[in-house]
Amino acid sequence: MVMFNVTRKETAPIDGQKPGTSGLRKKVKVFTQPNYLHNFVQSTFNALSAEKVRGATLVVSGDGRYYSKDAIQIITKMAAANGVRRVWIGQNGLLSTPAVSAVIRERVGSDGSKATGAFILTASHNPGGPNEDFGIKYNMDNGGPAPEGITDKIYENTKTINEYSIAEDLPDVDISAAGVTSFGGPEGQFDVEVFDSASDYVKLMKSIFDFEAIRKLLSSPKFTFCYDALHGVAGAYAKRIFVEELGAQESSLLNCTPKEDFGGGHPDPNLTYAKELVARMGLGKSNTQDEPPEFGAAADGDADRNMILGKRFFVTPSDSVAIIAANAVESIPYFSAGLKGVARSMPTSAALDVVAKNLNLKFFEVPTGWKFFGNLMDDGLCSICGEESFGTGSDHIREKDGIWAVLAWLSILAHKNKENLGGGKLVTVEDIVRKHWATYGRHYYTRYDYENVDAGAAKELMANLVKMQSSLPEVNDIVKGICSDVSKVVNADEFEYKDPVDGSISKHQGIRYLFEDGSRLVFRLSGTGSEGATIRLYIEQYEKDPSKTGRDSQEALAPLVEVALKLSKMEQFTGRSAPTVIT
Ligand code: G6P
Ligand code: ZN
Repeated sequence: MVMFNVTRKETAPIDGQKPGTSGLRKKVKVFTQPNYLHNFVQSTFNALSAEKVRGATLVVSGDGRYYSKDAIQIITKMAAANGVRRVWIGQNGLLSTPAVSAVIRERVGSDGSKATGAFILTASHNPGGPNEDFGIKYNMDNGGPAPEGITDKIYENTKTINEYSIAEDLPDVDISAAGVTSFGGPEGQFDVEVFDSASDYVKLMKSIFDFEAIRKLLSSPKFTFCYDALHGVAGAYAKRIFVEELGAQESSLLNCTPKEDFGGGHPDPNLTYAKELVARMGLGKSNTQDEPPEFGAAADGDADRNMILGKRFFVTPSDSVAIIAANAVESIPYFSAGLKGVARSMPTSAALDVVAKNLNLKFFEVPTGWKFFGNLMDDGLCSICGEESFGTGSDHIREKDGIWAVLAWLSILAHKNKENLGGGKLVTVEDIVRKHWATYGRHYYTRYDYENVDAGAAKELMANLVKMQSSLPEVNDIVKGICSDVSKVVNADEFEYKDPVDGSISKHQGIRYLFEDGSRLVFRLSGTGSEGATIRLYIEQYEKDPSKTGRDSQEALAPLVEVALKLSKMEQFTGRSAPTVIT
């Protein structure tokens, strides 16, 4: 057995290591500064209780972006030096964020061990490569992101750190081959186990969904399918699940080879960045000549996000979670006993609220950030939840789950088409969505993103919006002056949340303007960017009349958009005449 020694290295605090909504995300050039990663990892170990470090079993993997392989070796050497007993690594360092959550919750190691936590190496949907982003976040033993109590402690530690421990002489581990390598250190044995990235996750999916029913749908000549992994880690799962398990054509997979730089693209599954899929589905300007597939979906870099498309048809994430919730019990075996409750993030449209009300389900509105759903799920209050930011998931794990969302949609389609695959007309994605609108009403919805805006300017814009909230009559005068078709603002506030499980309070979670007819304008600063500030503007309008639910959404929302831009003085503050991305 190879032996290693522990070295204590002197270091000094480095500014700016405050974890954001989902961990620490910075440019690779920032991460590769001497001691940058080391300081953060040691600060994390120091923030955890002793049993989560000494003798613990730690998962270390991620979306495979540039610098991951080096980071895995560094973290492994630091884990060894800090008394961790085992490090588990997905083959080639690849594990999607949902798969990490599944591995923590479900996997049993070759020696019967269970994981106590994970370092996930990803910057999610941010681009990768030497000049782009890297990221790291810590997940707890429930499979979910560390709560604020821990991330605050990590940050405090980064401000005072003066040394870290590392096993410098531990040889680099070959992460390309599955197997266990054992080493001996001052505190005893240390194992590194490299395992297949997909098996545990595939097993979990098979226990949730009726794979046979989905297989029938996917192998029917009537149903055509396309999945775009945008060169993220979802590719490592897509082939196994969609092709090998469910019988989809290999040609239905786009960009499913994980790449360190995501092929130079922006691995964010939306109408702007998933260009190839959008074109193939017959959406956007670049309509293809070929008949588009019936169903299309995409994932982000770490495969926790999803975008669902029908033929020439976009499903908003807010509608997607509402539709999954409305159909889950009859279409997905995991939910056959009923739903415990449902939840959405505040800026997500109220489509889910209407379903919850109709089905008499517990309902929660939480701040942006998946971790807020975790407490509800751990307490048995919530089965299905979703966010406007292309995140959908359930209590099978404690992260959102891109492939789960696709399987949920395929389950609904399989159920609705049970009788139609032989003869009869296929019920399409668009049919399902339009029927949903006719039943529950439609929440017209759009999001405008202003990326990389000057941070000072963004702050001023937000401060001005808060200031205006103290005088609604003045706001309504301005609104009437901009557009007389828009209803009246009846309430305006900053969203504040009291967690029903632990009683913790989160303030300043988004600025809201609420209108008499149920319309909403929400302004938020993104918590996931790595440069400047990103302003998000969420615009929503409810239409109950079934004869009016079929309009083009940008057209239906135009008056409200105009009000939002003028009321916030968007161009004046940011100098931008148009958003970077519209979804
Ligand atoms: C991450 C989190 C999501 C959250 C999103 C918000 O993806 O996992 O739960 O919705 O960030 O991003 P934003 O950039 O709007 O803060
Ligand atoms: Zn992600």
